[in-house]
Amino acid sequence: MDNTAPITIPGDFLFGTSTAAYQVEGSARAEGRGESIWDIFSHTPGKVRNGDTGDVACDHYRRLDTDLDLVAELGVDAYRFSVSWPRIQPDGKGPADPAGLDFYRRVVDGLRERGIEPALTLYHWDLPQALQDAGGWPARDTASRFAEYAGILASALGSDVGKWITLNEPWCSAWLGYGNGVHAPGASDLGQALAATHHLLLGHGEAVQAVRAAAPRAEVGISLNPAVIRPASQHPDDLAAAALVEGSNNRLFYDPILLGRYPMETWAHYERYLPASSVIQDGDIDAISLPIDFLGLNYYSPSTIAALSRKAEARTAGYYVPAEDPDLISADLGAMPVGRPGYERTEMGWEIEAGALTELLVNLNREYQLPPVLITENGAACADYVDPDGAVHDPDRITYLRDHLRAVLTAREAGVDVRGYFVWSLLDNFEWSEGYSKRFGLAWVDYPTGTRIPKDSFRWYQNTIRTRTLTPDA
Ligand code: GCO
Repeated sequence: MDNTAPITIPGDFLFGTSTAAYQVEGSARAEGRGESIWDIFSHTPGKVRNGDTGDVACDHYRRLDTDLDLVAELGVDAYRFSVSWPRIQPDGKGPADPAGLDFYRRVVDGLRERGIEPALTLYHWDLPQALQDAGGWPARDTASRFAEYAGILASALGSDVGKWITLNEPWCSAWLGYGNGVHAPGASDLGQALAATHHLLLGHGEAVQAVRAAAPRAEVGISLNPAVIRPASQHPDDLAAAALVEGSNNRLFYDPILLGRYPMETWAHYERYLPASSVIQDGDIDAISLPIDFLGLNYYSPSTIAALSRKAEARTAGYYVPAEDPDLISADLGAMPVGRPGYERTEMGWEIEAGALTELLVNLNREYQLPPVLITENGAACADYVDPDGAVHDPDRITYLRDHLRAVLTAREAGVDVRGYFVWSLLDNFEWSEGYSKRFGLAWVDYPTGTRIPKDSFRWYQNTIRTRTLTPDA
């Protein structure tokens, strides 16, 4: 696609922005909300940068109306938010707490009144702690609990919510939560991570059924975070390491959902931690592979993988190779993520390469014949600050968003059925184990006062949506 000509964006292309409950809501003790694994984790010393927690976050729970006004001002067609499970079921089971349901009823009605389509994520990582105490996602029963919760919400809100996303990034829930311990609940056990993977996927399948039973007209999907994996070289060891990472990050999720089978070579690798036969039961795959109405994809950055045994060669080849050993997940795969020279990075340290998003979409579509796709997250953490003129000038974020949106439209032209694009995120917010140190928002949040300041990127996005035109680089 020509980078210098303005691009007209089809009128039916859905523009949105995304948030997640624990990252923005705060009011962690309000009106009977139960504890989630993120409450416990963030209050555990040493787990989150600066000891930050989501207790207050962006205070979105109490500022709902003005935040919805902000969403309306942005001009998006849709708003993706997640429901805090422990507000609905404080202990992860039993009848719904009316106060919790009432809050999300206000979210949905508030969006509808403003002409914005709600896109609801059922699970964005805040498992009720009571369910973790009973075994968490490594326990099969959690999948059934999740389906029950999905059914409660779909009965309550189903007729007013058009788009339902069962899980956000189950790879992160399973592998960062139970594999390398970077996320809640902080376990480091690859067998648990694998069991969690299966039960998350099973929970997804059962939730699809529960939502459809209660809200037959709703569209249901899932948001995955596919990794774009490149081998550091064509050496067989680098190729093998990259293939293992590909299997563990991507195939373990895509294959069962879209092809109705697990990649058995990936299970074979993990067999020593957990035999497939000990968790996969008859009928599970049928539930996991129920057709979905759309596939959500969250994309930020590609990664390059070298074999752990070839660190020295990777360094000689000019890659940035971290001095420390890789985490448990990579080490087990004999893999080492390395950095490419010459690429700009976001404040997360993530390489910026918009073209990788086109490549990802085209390749996935070739391999899986994708259902309609929504980019449910894309965005950048930048070194933002409030300028003496009172504004937040974030040209790097504008460039990032513009290039990635163009990459999406390029994939669309190449035949991938991409129907929409959601920026992560509406607001600066609690960036998980990075706490408040990373800012992804289109609007700046002054945490001590709660004041929101739309950044330049907010105005850029607003203008792009209003004109349905992607302007060339400045
Ligand atoms: C994720 C989550 C978001 C993050 C965002 C930036 O992808 O990790 O869905 O909650 O905040 O991706 O890291």
